[in-house]
Order: sequence, then C-alpha cells, then structure tokens
Amino acid sequence: MVDENVWFITGASRGLGTEIARAALSAGHSVVATGRDASKVEAAVGAHDDLLALALDITDPAAAEAAVAAAVERFGRVDVLVNNAGNFYAGFFETLSPEQFRAQMETNFFGPLNVTRAVLPLLREQRSGQVITVTSTAAFVGGAFTSAYAASKFALEGWAESLAPELEPFGIASMTVVPGFFRTELLVEGSSTIWPELEIADYAEGTAQTQAAFRGMNGQQGGDPAKLADALVQLSDGDALPARFVAGADAVAGLEQKQALVQQQIEATRALSESLSHDA
Ligand SMILES: NC(=O)c1ccc[n+]([C@@H]2O[C@H](COP(=O)([O-])OP(=O)(O)OC[C@H]3O[C@@H](n4cnc5c(N)ncnc54)[C@H](OP(=O)(O)O)[C@@H]3O)[C@@H](O)[C@H]2O)c1
Repeated sequence: MVDENVWFITGASRGLGTEIARAALSAGHSVVATGRDASKVEAAVGAHDDLLALALDITDPAAAEAAVAAAVERFGRVDVLVNNAGNFYAGFFETLSPEQFRAQMETNFFGPLNVTRAVLPLLREQRSGQVITVTSTAAFVGGAFTSAYAASKFALEGWAESLAPELEPFGIASMTVVPGFFRTELLVEGSSTIWPELEIADYAEGTAQTQAAFRGMNGQQGGDPAKLADALVQLSDGDALPARFVAGADAVAGLEQKQALVQQQIEATRALSESLSHDA
C-alpha cells in the first residue's frame, strides 16, 4: 500500500457510500465512486479533482469489468475496494416472492462477488490491496421479517471470511464491516427498502406492524455514517487492517448477545453432541 491510495467504492450515490467517498478524498486518496447513475454519484459526493464517478450496477459483471478498466485508465491502479452497495427486501419469508428473494441475493451477495472478481486480478498483480466488505449485524443475527436480507448478509460474511486466507499470500487484506443501524437511506421505502409483494392473511397484521416500526426508525437511526466512513479510512490507513470491524454500540451489543446465545445452545446439548463419534 502506498500513502495515497486509489479507492473503488460501490453504492456511492447516497448513504454510507457517499460518506466513504468523501472521507477518502479528505484523507488525500483518489476515489472511483460508483453507482447506478454516475451523475447522482458526482452530485452526492461533490466534484473533486481526485474523483472519478462511474456508472456501475453491481449485478452486471460486464459493467464491473468496464468500471475497473476505467478506474485503471484514470488512476493506474486500485488499492482499496469497498463493497458497500446494498438494499433491503423486508418481509416475512412466505410473503416475499421467489423473485424478490433472488433479487436480494443478486444485489447483496452476488453483486459484491461480481465486483471483487473484476478487481482481484489487479490486486494480485500488484501484490497489495484491501477488500472491505460491508455486511450487517444481520449477517450474524437473524430475525422475523429479515430472512432475505439476513440470508444475503450471512452469505456475504461467509464468503468474505473464507476469501481472506486465500488473498493473504498475495499481500491483499480483507475486512468485513458489520454495522448496526446508521442514519442512511436504507430504510427509505421504494428505493432501498422493498416490501413483500405477496399478501397472505395470516401475515397481514404482522406486516403492517413491522412496516410501521421500520417507518418509525427511518431517520432516527443512532449511527452517524460520516463517523463510520472516517473510521473506515482510519482503519484502512493504519498498520494492519482488522479482519472484522463491528461498527456501532448496537452492533457490538447484538453480536455479544448472539455469541452468548450460541454458547448457551452448545452447553444445552453438549453431552449429546459429544456422543456422536463412531464407537471404534
Ligand atoms: N444503514 C444501516 O443501518 C446499515 C446497517 C447495516 C448494513 N448496512 C449496509 O450498508 C451498505 C450501504 O447502505 P446504506 O445504509 O448507505 O443505504 P442507502 O443509503 O440506501 O444506499 C444504498 C446504496 O446502494 C446502491 N445500490 C443499490 N443497489 C445497487 C446496485 N444494483 N448496483 C449499484 N448500487 C446499488 C444505491 O444506489 P442507487 O442510488 O442506484 O439506488 C445506494 O448508493 C449496504 O450494504 C447495507 O446493507 C447499512
């Protein structure tokens, strides 16, 4: 890694991605900020000499290749990939259509894979670089109404954790970022939050109640995305990138609770579990 790095950020048209782009620029880095609409990205981040705003829908592998090529043409290299873009298909499992569930996986899971696949040959050739992947507390803690989102983020964590040792021999570091609730546009209906398209009477009341709860949370989330963005730049610029950054007091509490719960579950069935080996 050099002092001034080239960052490649997905989902930079709003929310956390915009803040990461701004924070990296403020720290003196060059930034390739991408989003489905390049003009929206440039407007959100603000024009800057070291900014290249590009159109990239992460569900399109060819677009990912083209965006990486454009990044190299402008800056000659990529040092830090930030897999940030994502959305939220919210609903009880049976009320999400199979198409909606697949769409969630296409964006939150296969999307980062597409972009990482396009960037890795470059990082391997350089024998340096960082892959930073934004997952979620929902990558460790499942809950009603979040089966699609949690499934996509659990998958993303499993992929990233497995990828890290594969990249380490090439001098490429990997970090997952596990945010709690941050005040972005993720809970904005119709753009990032997509409600279930199937109506089932048994779930109608629960759906209405949960939708109201999410609407109430929109704009009230405790986490400040600008502070998270600064923290990510600080970690990236530091000596060794941590493998995981659990971001926000609510995320820390949520993961601690989950760890304790798993430990209780292990203890509750330990004897049975340890009796399962072949007798001879
Ligand atoms: N905010 C939170 O509380 C929270 C908590 C945990 C994890 N996260 C994660 O943080 C990441 C950033 O989300 P955010 O909170 O900043 O939400 P946000 O404000 O809604 O921003 C989402 C970004 O993702 C982009 N995006 C969506 N689908 C895309 C696609 N197919 N191709 C390219 N870009 C796409 C959006 O671009 P368009 O303008 O083109 O739609 C937008 O720039 C997500 O991975 C999210 O799951 C957020």
